[in-house]
Amino acid sequence: MEKFAFLQDQLDALKAADLLRTLRCIRSAAGPTVMVDGDSRARVNFCSNNYLNIASDPHVIQAVSQAARRWGYGASASRLICGTMDPHVELEERFAAFAGKEASVMFPSGWMANEAVLRTIPQKGDLVLMDKADHASIIDAAKAGEATFRTWRRDNPDRLRKLLAGGDYRRRFIVTESVFSMDGDTADLELLVELKNAYGAILIVDEAHSAGCMGPTGAGFAEERGLPAQVDIMIAPLGKAFGAAGAMVAAGRTVADYLINRARAFIYTTAPAPVNCAAVMAALDIIRSEPQRRRMLADNAAYLRNRLADSGLDIANSCSHIIPVVIGSSKDALAASEALYEKGFLLPAIRPPTVPAGSARLRISVQSRHTQEQMDALVDTLQDVVGH
Ligand SMILES: Cc1ncc(COP(=O)(O)O)c(C=O)c1O
Repeated sequence: MEKFAFLQDQLDALKAADLLRTLRCIRSAAGPTVMVDGDSRARVNFCSNNYLNIASDPHVIQAVSQAARRWGYGASASRLICGTMDPHVELEERFAAFAGKEASVMFPSGWMANEAVLRTIPQKGDLVLMDKADHASIIDAAKAGEATFRTWRRDNPDRLRKLLAGGDYRRRFIVTESVFSMDGDTADLELLVELKNAYGAILIVDEAHSAGCMGPTGAGFAEERGLPAQVDIMIAPLGKAFGAAGAMVAAGRTVADYLINRARAFIYTTAPAPVNCAAVMAALDIIRSEPQRRRMLADNAAYLRNRLADSGLDIANSCSHIIPVVIGSSKDALAASEALYEKGFLLPAIRPPTVPAGSARLRISVQSRHTQEQMDALVDTLQDVVGH
């Protein structure tokens, strides 16, 4: 018998439940339109996290080319052996200043940054409180750590209050995303700060979908709300608005030093390529010098949210550039995604377990360079496809 028949059986079961996932190859640089393998016509891309269109910006390409000539490609070792090079040090200094923190530490991915922070900083005897919709990397890391963890739903802050008030814990941590990646709503940061202060808790905010996009200088959602100093640890994945890869953890010097000494996801992995640091620094330059990109993104997002809501589509509580169109069943969401593809739009179905059962959706990600025509066409097509 085939050794891996047990896996094939499970894949077959996923397919039968409309939950099988497959890879689709993109054959052009990231942008508002892309070429998809097997297709001769460009599709309008409404599912990329390239919110500010930085991923293929000429400044980034130039910075990366220069850095490649100077530093080569691979870092060749872990950070603590001989993988720390000038670009890592310079980026960490620059990012700390950008985030308004004493220090920052770079990780190869957002997943690893969350793993590092949530498995290392909360310890035995501590309590970690997570929003139920927090990213899988947060939930998995907290589960793997030694602290007790609980979840709350942001439509029921009383539960969070009760959890903070109860039990005999050494320290309490509140962990939230800023802009929720699947719902496009935002954390009630004012409330979380009030509770953090009332209960002496530590606040950790994953700004994956807001860093670069929000705040007067682009430092993120906490900056937009005037609360960056209240965030004890900021996590900023770089594969989204920054158009690069990796993640920064920005915090006080002690937290940074502790991660460098204790976080296995930092210690036991090869340092990010120095050219990637160069790309992030070029992105920081763009974010600082071109605030109009943030304005264009916010304007596009508001326009599209209004048009979708006016058309009677269910966009949940979205108030950002992430706009879910909630469909319900995985089968219907898949069919809608396929119909949209036929009409020129790339917008895959997001299904469980990424979102709760029964809430499969099309998750629209807006870019600063989407045109009004592209957004209008999407709304018209969605009305036809999802129907009302
Ligand atoms: C909120 C959030 N945190 C962390 C991550 C992980 O970041 P990365 O893709 O860099 O691993 C993502 C998305 O992938 C995310 O949406």
